[in-house]
Amino acid sequence: MNQEIINQKEYWNRELKAFDSIYTARKSSFSKWLDKVFRWDMFARYEYTFKHSEPIQNRTLLDIGCGTGVFSLEYARRNAKYVTGIDISEQMINVCINRAEKEGLSSLCEFLRSDLLEYKPNNNFDICIGIGLFDYIKEPQSVISKMCEVVTDRAIMTFPRFWTWRAPVRKVRLGLRKCAVYFYTKKRIEMLLNTAGFKRFEIEPVGKLFCVTAYVK
Ligand SMILES: C[S@@+](CC[C@H](N)C(=O)[O-])C[C@H]1O[C@@H](n2cnc3c(N)ncnc32)[C@H](O)[C@@H]1O
Repeated sequence: MNQEIINQKEYWNRELKAFDSIYTARKSSFSKWLDKVFRWDMFARYEYTFKHSEPIQNRTLLDIGCGTGVFSLEYARRNAKYVTGIDISEQMINVCINRAEKEGLSSLCEFLRSDLLEYKPNNNFDICIGIGLFDYIKEPQSVISKMCEVVTDRAIMTFPRFWTWRAPVRKVRLGLRKCAVYFYTKKRIEMLLNTAGFKRFEIEPVGKLFCVTAYVK
C-alpha cells in the first residue's frame, strides 16, 4: 500500500460513523436537514445506481469501495446471485460482515479488505460499481481499466464534478484531515472510459456529481 492509500484507509477508519450516519440518519434534525440540502445527490446516486443495475436478480456484482455495505447488502436483498464488496478500510469491511450476518445475507455476499488494483478475482462479474470512490483515487485510469477487465456487462460509477462551488470547499476541508480528493470534467471522464476500452457509455450530471453507466459491449 502506498502512503496515499494508507492515508485514505486511516481517514475512512476514522470517518466510518460520520459517513454511515448519512444513510442511517441517526442524527440531529439540523444535521438531517443539512444532508438533505447539501447531500441530496448522495441519495440521487443511490436511486441512479439501482435503476441502472436492472436486472439484478441472478447477477454477480463487484462493489469497489463498498464502505459500510449500503449498496452491496441492498443488491443481496434484491436477489443478486452473489455480491463481492471490497474496501481498503478494515473497519468498513467488519461493519459489512456483521450486517450481512445479522440480516442472514452471508451466503449471498462476501467482503474483503483490498485495494482494487491488488485484488485478483477468480471470476468476472456481470456488474461492477464504484460509487463515491473516484473522489479518492489519485490515478483513476488504472482503476477504470481494471473495472473494464473484470466486468462482462456494465460498470456504474460516480465522479464529483470539477466546476461546482463545493469542490474547493471539500478540497480544503478533507485536505486538512489528510484525505486527498479529486474532481472531474466530463471530457476527462470520456477519455478515461475510452482508454479503458468501454464500448459505449452514458454520463449524466446529478447535482454535484456525474453518474456514469459504461458498457463493455
Ligand atoms: C465515500 S465512501 C463510499 C462508500 C460506498 N460506496 C457508498 O457509497 O456508500 C468511499 C470508500 O472507498 C474506499 N476506498 C478508497 N480508496 C479505495 C481503493 N483504492 N480501493 C478500495 N476502496 C477504496 C474507502 O475506504 C471508503 O470506504
